[in-house]
Amino acid sequence: MEDFDRLMTSQVLQTDEEESIRPQSLEEYIGQDSLKENLKIYIQAAQQRNDVLDHVLLYGPPGLGKTTLSYILAHEMHTNIKIVTGPSISKPGDLCSILTTLEAGDILFIDEIHRLPKIVEEVLYSAMEDFEMDVMVGGENGQGGRSVRLPVCPFTLVGATTRAGDLSAPLRDRFGIISKLEYYNEQQLSRIILRSARVLNVKIEEDAVIEVARRSRGTPRIANRLLRRIRDFAQVLNNGVISKMIVDEALAKLHVDNLGLDEVDIRYLKGIIERFHGGPVGLEALANSISEETTTLEDVYEPYLIQIGFVNRTSRGRVATEKAYAHLGYAFEK
Ligand code: ADE
Repeated sequence: MEDFDRLMTSQVLQTDEEESIRPQSLEEYIGQDSLKENLKIYIQAAQQRNDVLDHVLLYGPPGLGKTTLSYILAHEMHTNIKIVTGPSISKPGDLCSILTTLEAGDILFIDEIHRLPKIVEEVLYSAMEDFEMDVMVGGENGQGGRSVRLPVCPFTLVGATTRAGDLSAPLRDRFGIISKLEYYNEQQLSRIILRSARVLNVKIEEDAVIEVARRSRGTPRIANRLLRRIRDFAQVLNNGVISKMIVDEALAKLHVDNLGLDEVDIRYLKGIIERFHGGPVGLEALANSISEETTTLEDVYEPYLIQIGFVNRTSRGRVATEKAYAHLGYAFEK
């Protein structure tokens, strides 16, 4: 049980405030409209059949609401949710003990499911497909035991990943619902910021909302994080009211530029332009030159820079576009 508790809390701990801004229902959840509409149907259909919801794979860049959506699925299905992360489950036995605790209809949320070790993943196949698991009993140190097949309560696996491509085909094929989360537009982010400001009980002016939305890299988690930091500046400098001027001042202090790019984005772009003549440059060489992890650049930074047309990924490497040169004030010479 101790082990199990450790696994259950392996998710980054959330503050109460973060918890309180999280929407609880699909009705409150803003954006991802087509995914939301489809989920409504799947939920209603499962409920009408008195069945569990099919397994769901959510993929896309970090901060777009994969965890939030899985909490909402549990809420809408009136079930419990257990949250674990892929890399925290190192042995098949760890997963078996989690599966044993599930009650009928529960949601098991595995974050970073692409980082689940292969031998653990194999336990999932029969658990997902037949609600059964193979457990080793007897023997020592994994030697000389025998495998017995035990039932698992029917459950819904919700997997989340920033890298759907890294999932093995057998695992991917066992999800009935596979959905990509998209970046949010400014209007959707504005609605999210207004809602969060209301929950946090802070006053924010209309042009300030739009400015925060514009500089949140299409990502609700960033919008909410910026909002909380800007609130601190507003509280100390402006009687608690968030005005456009306070936003500008706070974001300058936080080194967030006028498009929402942060210091890593800027180092990434300057790295390509200054050290590699605009590219193409391989990810590894670029990451080394700016002392960042390749996976961080690939999962967190590049998707947005590609989305706004600042970077192209070619077969020969990363290339900075004319738009990126212009934003950073370099003359484009190709
Ligand atoms: N907070 C974070 N993401 C949200 C979303 N998509 N809708 C409403 N509030 C949110």
